[in-house]
Amino acid sequence: MDIQDSNGDEMINKGNIDIQRPRKTRFEYEDDEVDQDETLDEAITETSNLEDDALMCDPDESVIGADKTSADYYFDSYSHFGIHEVSLLCLDEKLFNIQCLTLTDFLALQEMLKDAVRTKTYQNVIYKNNFLFKDKIVLDVGAGTGILSLFCAKAGAKHVYAVECSQMADMAQEIVKVNGFSDVITVLKGKVEEIELPVAQVDIIISEWMGYFLLFENMLNTVLYARDKWLVNNGVVLPDKASLYLTAIEDADYKEDKIEFWNNVYGFNMSCIKKQSIMEPLVDTVDQKQIVTNCQLLKTMDISKMAPGDASFTAPFKLVAERDDYIHALVAYFDVSFTKCHKLTGFSTGPRSRTTHWKQTVLYLEDVLTICEGEALVGNMTVAQNKKNPRDVDIMIKYSLNGRRCLVSRTQHYRMR
Ligand SMILES: C[S@@+](CC[C@H](N)C(=O)[O-])C[C@H]1O[C@@H](n2cnc3c(N)ncnc32)[C@H](O)[C@@H]1O
Repeated sequence: MDIQDSNGDEMINKGNIDIQRPRKTRFEYEDDEVDQDETLDEAITETSNLEDDALMCDPDESVIGADKTSADYYFDSYSHFGIHEVSLLCLDEKLFNIQCLTLTDFLALQEMLKDAVRTKTYQNVIYKNNFLFKDKIVLDVGAGTGILSLFCAKAGAKHVYAVECSQMADMAQEIVKVNGFSDVITVLKGKVEEIELPVAQVDIIISEWMGYFLLFENMLNTVLYARDKWLVNNGVVLPDKASLYLTAIEDADYKEDKIEFWNNVYGFNMSCIKKQSIMEPLVDTVDQKQIVTNCQLLKTMDISKMAPGDASFTAPFKLVAERDDYIHALVAYFDVSFTKCHKLTGFSTGPRSRTTHWKQTVLYLEDVLTICEGEALVGNMTVAQNKKNPRDVDIMIKYSLNGRRCLVSRTQHYRMR
């Protein structure tokens, strides 16, 4: 899908409204330990955060660096490597040289594993539904440390193939051995798209493929590739449903801090940087008190049936104000569910649910919109893989508000990279 530009943007603001600003509290991540030695029964706890979430019921080349992709950032951002690599070398030079893993890699892995909403949900899905796994052949797509493979082996899987393309595969191999599962789990180092699986078919594909904004880094296509190549007829994909949602927030303080900052930097106009920063969605936690409108389901994907192209789409939205307020940004988030379980299980990454490492994705609007209760911000969102780097996601939002205090019609482009 090619995202086209469009003209005719306009904005008329007819004055201010008297509102009480919600208090800004960005959430702290809640850290739950997973007991490594727990038995299968002990490990089963209720951690799905679905019930908490009301929603379960309900390029511009002139811009500096606009043509850069995540691959470029990967290499030129010292926040990715530089400092962290040096620290790791100081910590353990031998490990760095042999495994080529950076401290950033370890911290990212730890962040995922410590995300109890994420990891405990997978653990519960597997342990509480061991009837799905008993004597079955499982493929773990993107195994990382092998944690999901270990859960499956412990739940009675006949054999688990853990495929991991990074150096972490060596660690996974070691972890599998140390935990006594070498006869049940085979770690295969390589890309899913390139490895040879020792079996022709698998009964279950399990994967934690979701990126920021659900689709960033595009691992979904890898899962779909594995599904089409190896999954037996009536096989199970876990998770099998993923939905993307949109809402609108008041976010004056953060927009000022992150975007408007560039208007006047020690007395100098750096608004050319503002143009780029507004195009980059911000991954951060949003306080539910900031939500001004309803939350709108944009798209549900059925991982067991969808085609790879279905991850590029245009979806309409209608966001109705629940109070008089200002709108500074739209916020996207997702949930995933495992519908083949005894009991519907899953989790949400929404602002009304317990925080996960995915947080939410904030898309700042160029204008501050003034909206009155009952008025609707309408439009559509187009999501597509970036052509130059398929790991990146291009997002286009067309929106209009025909309200008592604000008339606006605009198209904005964003890129997750
Ligand atoms: C989000 S992590 C999940 C790791 C682990 N399954 C867990 O739940 O903790 C995704 C992993 O998939 C791996 N990966 C991504 N694309 C892959 C591909 N095409 N083939 C094999 N592994 C891949 C990454 O290196 C990363 O370790």
